[in-house]
Formats: sequence, C-alpha cells, structure tokens
Amino acid sequence: MNGVSGRMGYRQHLLRSILAIREQGGVLLADGSRVQVEPMLVGRSKEKLAELAAKHGIEHYTDSLDEALANPDFPIYADFLVTTKRVEAIKKAIAAGKHIYTEKPTAESFDDALELARLATAAGVKNGVVHDKLYLPGFQKLRRLIDSGFFGRILSVRGEFGYWVFEGDWQPAQRPSWNYRAEDGGGIVSDMFAHWNYVIENLFGRIDSVYARAVTHIPSRVDEAGATYTATADDAAYAIFELEDGAIVQLNSSWAVRVNRKELVEFQVDGTLGSAVVGLFGCRIQPRNATPKPVWNPDLPESHDYFQDWIEVPDNDAFENGFKVQWEQFLRHVLEDAPYEFDLLAGARGVRLSEEGLRSSAEGRRIQLPAVSL
Ligand SMILES: NC(=O)c1ccc[n+]([C@@H]2O[C@H](COP(=O)([O-])OP(=O)(O)OC[C@H]3O[C@@H](n4cnc5c(N)ncnc54)[C@H](O)[C@@H]3O)[C@@H](O)[C@H]2O)c1
Repeated sequence: MNGVSGRMGYRQHLLRSILAIREQGGVLLADGSRVQVEPMLVGRSKEKLAELAAKHGIEHYTDSLDEALANPDFPIYADFLVTTKRVEAIKKAIAAGKHIYTEKPTAESFDDALELARLATAAGVKNGVVHDKLYLPGFQKLRRLIDSGFFGRILSVRGEFGYWVFEGDWQPAQRPSWNYRAEDGGGIVSDMFAHWNYVIENLFGRIDSVYARAVTHIPSRVDEAGATYTATADDAAYAIFELEDGAIVQLNSSWAVRVNRKELVEFQVDGTLGSAVVGLFGCRIQPRNATPKPVWNPDLPESHDYFQDWIEVPDNDAFENGFKVQWEQFLRHVLEDAPYEFDLLAGARGVRLSEEGLRSSAEGRRIQLPAVSL
C-alpha cells in the first residue's frame, strides 16, 4: 500500500477497507471460505510508517518501494500517491509482476493511462481502479430505479457537485494545496471527470461527446505552510456530456460554490415515466402519474410547494463503505477470477474525458469521443 499516509490512503484504503476486511476475518469468496489480507505499508518516511504500523498492529512496512516489490509474499501493488507520482510507480509494479489496484486518475495524460492499461494486459496482471461513487447509497438506489424500469426513456441528467473550499488565508483550506496547482496534478476536471466517466458509463451509457468550460475562479490561495501561491489549476467546470443514445448529461463541478442543496452532490434524472433526485445518501422520486401541472403565471405568487411532490426512496438495505466493497470486489477478482470491469482501460477512459474536457474548454468546442480499445 503505497502512499498510505495520505488522506485517501489512510482513511479510506487502510482504515475503512483493508483493516476492516482484516477485522471481519478476511474477504469472503464464492465458496464461503475467507482469505485474510496482510498489508505492507510503503512510503517516504519510515518514522511515519512505523507510527502507523504500531498504532494498527501492522507487521510490515518499508520506505523502499523496490524492496516491497521484490517481496513475492505481496502479490498486489496498491497506489494512493499524489497523481503525478503514479505512472512511474505502477510501471515498476507491473514490471515486478504485481497485480495493480489504484486510485484515480490513473495518470495525468490519456497516453500514459492507456500505456498502463496496455502494459498490465501484456504482463497478464489483474488491474483495478477506484470507482467509489457508484457505491454511494444514493447512487445504488438510482441503480435500482434504472434496473426496475422506473424512468422509461432517460432524457437528461443534471448534476451539481461542489462546495466552498476555503482559500486558506483566514481559515485553513479543507483540501490539499496540490489540488489547485496544475503542475502538481491538481484541477477539478482531472479530479472529478475521472469519476463522472465511470458514473455516467455505468448508470446511463457511453459518452459520445463532451463540451466543457473549465475556469479558475479563485486565482490565489494559501498553502499548508501559510505561503500564498498562484492557483494554476481549474477550480470549477461546467460540462455537457452527450450519450450514445441521445441523453444529455449536464454536470457542474465546483470548489467555489456555496451549498444550497441537501447534499454535496445531487443528480436529477428526468425520464419519460418518472424523475429522481439522488445525492450521496438520499433519493427522491416523482412518477409520471404524480407529476403536477404547473402553469407559468408571473402575476401570481407561487402557492405550490414543489418539494412536497417527491417521495423518499427507502434504504431497504445496509450500505457498506464503498471503498471496502471495491477492495473486496478486486480481491475476489485476483483470488478467484470474479468478473471485474473497472480496470486500467476504464481508468484510461476517465483520464481521456478529463483531457478532452480541458481541450474543449481551451478550444471552445464540443469534442467527439470515439470508443477506446487497447
Ligand atoms: N476516490 C476519491 O474519491 C478520491 C478523493 C480524493 C483524492 N483521490 C486521489 O487519491 C490520490 C491521493 O490524494 P489525497 O487527497 O489522498 O492526497 P494527499 O496529499 O493527502 O496524499 C498523497 C500521498 O502521496 C504521497 N506523496 C506526495 N508527494 C510524493 C512524492 N513526491 N513521492 C512519493 N509520494 C508522495 C504523500 O506522502 C501521501 O501519502 C490522488 O491521486 C487523488 O486524485 C481520490
């Protein structure tokens, strides 16, 4: 586990996933047996790793990636590094014959992302990329609605993602400063389009074209050490994705917006037979048969409460942490060849969406996205 001291590496991958799987006695296989997991922590600071290892009773840690990769007892390499360091590390791991599991985006450029997919395929190693948003309870309820035929034909999706990220001057920023520097792999397009690609592909269909406008609303921020820096990366993106079947997905992603919705992400899906509004947890629906008939009249104050026309979808399930579910899915893929579709090629499609989104913004035009293959 490389980069395990970081925000994602520590909280989501070590604590909420690997240690949680270890605590439950390992990953459950199809035949009912369990396989236990044994992490090795890898990072730059031996002291930090020693502290983490002692805190969580972990036996193996090292500040040498080469040493970790040379150890045949550890067949999976997992990468949670800052994005700029990922390609080099994953290439080494593939060359060492390790199976690969990684955070997104898999690379900074589509060429690099595709090369990783090709190298892993040629080496015959299993490979997987994080796709956590699909496991959010709200999105799982959306999946259920789609599977049940609730929407009829899906016409459009409009999504809002974002919140105010403090500039770091009078209150510390709640995200790492590299997120706002293009030269360090930052930017909301690179960060979020990698998610939007698998979310849209998996729930609504293949993306045929993208039009995006990416901007840097806040030009200067203050970093973790209190130093002012120039924000060279985009902090908001306004995008339209057209799907193969004609549905339109319009998504705003922003770190410079104040939240006026129930959750930090909300998608409204409109179909011929019904509509839904989903967030991280919640999901409200309005079927065709219960749709009110508004009439535009600017002379009369609004008397109808439109929010009351929506029905809350019940959980009907216990939703587990998405990062843990993904890890179990990938471990089963490695251990018993369970089906798995979120591989490095899928990750590369996400990187391409970011790259073409930025190109669309720079050139002010819509960009076609032909199918990608190895
Ligand atoms: N799936 C998600 O929802 C999600 C959310 C946030 C971030 N991410 C992704 O996770 C990755 C890590 O993001 P984070 O927010 O945890 O960042 P972070 O800054 O908290 O952690 C980065 C890690 O990389 C290590 N690192 C930094 N510079 C390095 C260098 N020069 N050489 C080697 N290691 C170095 C750090 O020590 C740390 O362990 C990024 O690729 C990011 O895009 C994913």
